[in-house]
Amino acid sequence: MLQKTVLLLALVVQVLMLENGLLRTPPMGWLAWERFRCNIDCDQDPKNCISERLFMEMADRLAQDGWRDLGYVYLNIDDCWIGERDAKGRLLPDPKRFPHGIAFLADYAHSLGLKLGIYEDMGKMTCMGYPGTTLDKVELDAETFAEWKVDMLKLDGCFSTAKERAEGYPKMAAALNATGRPIAFSCSWPAYEGGLPPKVNYTLIANICNLWRNYDDIQDSWKSVLSILDWFVKHQDILQPVAGPGHWNDPDMLLIGNFGLSFEESRSQMALWTVLAAPLFMSTDLRTISPQNIDILQNPLIIKINQDPLGIQGRRIFKSKSQIEVFKRHLSNEASALVFFSRRTDMPYHFHSSLLELNFPRSRVYEGQNVFTGDVISGLKSETNFTVVINPSGVVMWYLYPIKHLGLSTQMSQL
Ligand SMILES: *[C@@H]1O[C@H](CO)[C@@H](O)[C@H](O)[C@H]1NC(C)=O
Ligand SMILES: *[C@@H]1O[C@H](CO)[C@@H](O)[C@H](O)[C@H]1NC(C)=O
Ligand SMILES: *[C@@H]1O[C@H](CO)[C@@H](O)[C@H](O)[C@H]1NC(C)=O
Repeated sequence: MLQKTVLLLALVVQVLMLENGLLRTPPMGWLAWERFRCNIDCDQDPKNCISERLFMEMADRLAQDGWRDLGYVYLNIDDCWIGERDAKGRLLPDPKRFPHGIAFLADYAHSLGLKLGIYEDMGKMTCMGYPGTTLDKVELDAETFAEWKVDMLKLDGCFSTAKERAEGYPKMAAALNATGRPIAFSCSWPAYEGGLPPKVNYTLIANICNLWRNYDDIQDSWKSVLSILDWFVKHQDILQPVAGPGHWNDPDMLLIGNFGLSFEESRSQMALWTVLAAPLFMSTDLRTISPQNIDILQNPLIIKINQDPLGIQGRRIFKSKSQIEVFKRHLSNEASALVFFSRRTDMPYHFHSSLLELNFPRSRVYEGQNVFTGDVISGLKSETNFTVVINPSGVVMWYLYPIKHLGLSTQMSQL
């Protein structure tokens, strides 16, 4: 019992040290895992294997094809980059696949105005079996990443006990801070403890991590998107309040541009992840992505909504028997984003509602924009009955802000 108290006190002291000022809005960028996994066969598949070539080619695309300028600045390595530890215990990348080393890759990313993220695992091995960060290696690995000028660390949780994770994640947060280099910290910790209290203390997590995976890995299918969405909605009363500037829930990568989602489903993932204030990590081949998928990912208004400075996560506010759901996210300047989402599988559905029914205040007039079509919305009163037509597995997304209060008759006449 005494030992427990001492451990808790130690955690509290560390917690006070860890506010790093990073990721005031959800991070945006590219992460290798979902699309490129642990493909290490550079002989058979040199273009797509986990190697410095892949990351440099993605860096070029991020910089040259408009991504970076829209905010997609993180170029993030996932598992399968490690070769071994050297005689002093320091991590080394696989020499064949990363011949110039990680510092070189970080320099390359920085020269293009990007940031480099790296991956390790709190445990004996990474999930794919490469050397992990055991408790005695936490400081050394943090120092190594800082020396390489890495900007983000995703710390996975395979091959460790709950006790090791409870010690290791706060320890890594403190070790990263002690390097003096701002390194955003992405924790997979909650996902390994079931993602919910009492096993997960989100107050503690939010104090030490900039983002965290709560739930299962995403796979390249609509079924996987729905299972993640269902879990986030089911537990939104717990999850929604813990997100905010500097600390985000992470429902995992965007599948857009890959093989599992239709056009409507791709828009839906983008819209739903945006109302959830989720990190926007693409994991697709930016060398071959289609113009249609680029349009979804580069939609400036949806990015503006995702990056809203208040950083308030949205919620599902309405669910109808007709399998239509409405999500709402509060934004700065009294604006809000609405997502009308159809789980139907028959045909476009005509959904009737009014802002009043969706708990907007009475007697206001709104204007805004349909996020995907660009159609302007003007003179929409709280009381106005409207109809949106939502495609199967699709969304209609609105950006709305109030323009005037109906009480002011002089302004009314301008409508
Ligand atoms: C370390 O923590 C202190 C106190 O919270 C903070 O002011 C500082 O910016 C942090 N440094 C880094 C590099 O994260
Ligand atoms: C959760 O962590 C916070 C911050 O460390 C702490 O103040 C609080 O007591 C913890 N809550 C529970 C239920 O353990
Ligand atoms: C809007 O529809 C509701 C029923 O859904 C009806 O009671 C109300 O009168 C309608 N309002 C207007 C302004 O048409």
